[in-house]
Amino acid sequence: MDLKNLLILFLIANLAISACNNNPEIDSSSSEQMMTGSDAELAIIMRQIHDDAKRLKKQISNSNSIGDEAPGYLKEIIGAVTTDSTVEGPVFEAFAQTYINNIQAIYTDTSGSQKDLFNEAIATCIDCHGEFCPGPVKTIKKLYIK
Ligand code: HEC
Repeated sequence: MDLKNLLILFLIANLAISACNNNPEIDSSSSEQMMTGSDAELAIIMRQIHDDAKRLKKQISNSNSIGDEAPGYLKEIIGAVTTDSTVEGPVFEAFAQTYINNIQAIYTDTSGSQKDLFNEAIATCIDCHGEFCPGPVKTIKKLYIK
């Protein structure tokens, strides 16, 4: 293996490991790039969650309809294989269930509170990340609807 390939390998490995520690600026273009076969299930679900949250933010901000059903894959957060095997257990599951409930509440809302409910859901992302994966918190904060 020549040096260039080695360097590329190193960069890829580093990206995968650092998602929770550093603060990689994650936008939709980088999330496509980072989509490699070796990523943990939860990391892949999280990129979907992040893309979905950006879309929801736009739809709610523009008062567009979001439909009435939360995406079915959300329940897969619980039980997904994680990069760090210590990310599991009752605390993680409680955060995950709260998040799922909060997202469902946005979809079933009929009182015009979608913006507040969305911001509550984003606060749950940040709660769980504060405990298990602080790296992306700064990126997630940008999702709040002001
Ligand atoms: C129940 C806890 C929990 C909730 C809720 C949660 N996350 Fe995560 N998130 C994690 C964990 C743990 C990881 C690390 C996944 C891994 O690598 O196994 C992660 C990873 C990520 C990543 C990095 C993915 C990558 O490329 O490696 C992003 C971005 C992210 N989450 C965004 C969000 C957003 C946005 C929300 C809410 C809309 C959210 N998360 C809700 C726990 C959570």
